[in-house]
Amino acid sequence: MRVLSGIKPTGKLTLGNYIGALKNFPNFQNEGETFIFIADLHALTMPIDPEFLRENSKIIASFYLAAGLDPKKCTIFRQSRVSEHSELAIILQNYLYMGELSRMTQFKEKSQNMNQNAIGLGLFAYPVLMAADILLYDSDVVPVGEDQTQHVELARDLVKRFNNHYGEILKMPEAKIGKVGKRIMSLSDPSKKMSKSDPKGDIFLLDDMKTIRKKIMSAVTDSGSEVIYDIENKPGIANLLTIYAAIKNITVEEAETTFAGYRYGDFKKAIADAVIEEIEPFQNRFYTFYNDPQTEKILEEGEAKASVIARVVLQRVQQAVGLR
Ligand code: TYM
Repeated sequence: MRVLSGIKPTGKLTLGNYIGALKNFPNFQNEGETFIFIADLHALTMPIDPEFLRENSKIIASFYLAAGLDPKKCTIFRQSRVSEHSELAIILQNYLYMGELSRMTQFKEKSQNMNQNAIGLGLFAYPVLMAADILLYDSDVVPVGEDQTQHVELARDLVKRFNNHYGEILKMPEAKIGKVGKRIMSLSDPSKKMSKSDPKGDIFLLDDMKTIRKKIMSAVTDSGSEVIYDIENKPGIANLLTIYAAIKNITVEEAETTFAGYRYGDFKKAIADAVIEEIEPFQNRFYTFYNDPQTEKILEEGEAKASVIARVVLQRVQQAVGLR
């Protein structure tokens, strides 16, 4: 089994990225051949400062290691350093259509507030590159949060279309979403996803513990007093229960039972304790890897390994379409 996923080094990573992605990645490295990368080419689809991009890529590499990814068991690399990603994307762009690309939620959300005459082609074609990422490794499983499933679906449509035309060339991937925490919401507005590009009220993985506690203690709830999991009427409470359940590897029902009879204040304090207990040692591990020159070496070795596998698939595709 091949497993592949990645994170884009755009904004500061959030607790949503941790729960929806980072925390789950290490579970796969014992089950199959795992490829986890830094989607730095994807980061260029919106304006980004070069120094920030470089720095954030290094930060994500260190997050991967701090989360427990072991370079002996999995391949960690920067997308841009494995040029096969770009080469495959150039071919695959001919098999995804403008209509379906324009219907992607992420594209619609990101482009709606932009000057319509200045939307980069890369933002529009984002799912093409993402399909190339996935298909380049004959991936079976793609662990992602809920917001990325639409892109994986599009990659699946592409596989069907391409294989119908050329025979069994591309492997059919499948998105894998965690049971708990596939969509962590903003603490300041639980109707919105917690997101790297939302500077307000969200927990960033490098926030200090005091800030994390403060953000959780001031999370938006409702005027009621019962701690129950009710997304419709109590989205703020439901979100905090989800965060707790995901961190403790229990179900939301179990989390609900744990906090039966709690007052909101005590409940939030317990959530803050749980998040800090998880994130504080994670941050300590992060700083060790961040300051270790070996981290760069790990990426370079990952890139060499990834490229060997990617080249095989790229050549198979080139052959199928008549480029070889
Ligand atoms: P990105 O960088 O936006 O997010 C990285 C991962 O974190 C998940 N995630 C969340 N999960 C739960 N709750 C949230 N609030 C939350 N916010 C983010 C995302 O679903 C994702 O799994 N396009 C991808 C990067 C990418 C990729 C790929 C992923 C490029 N190529 C190929 C998988 C396979 C992205 O921008 O994720």
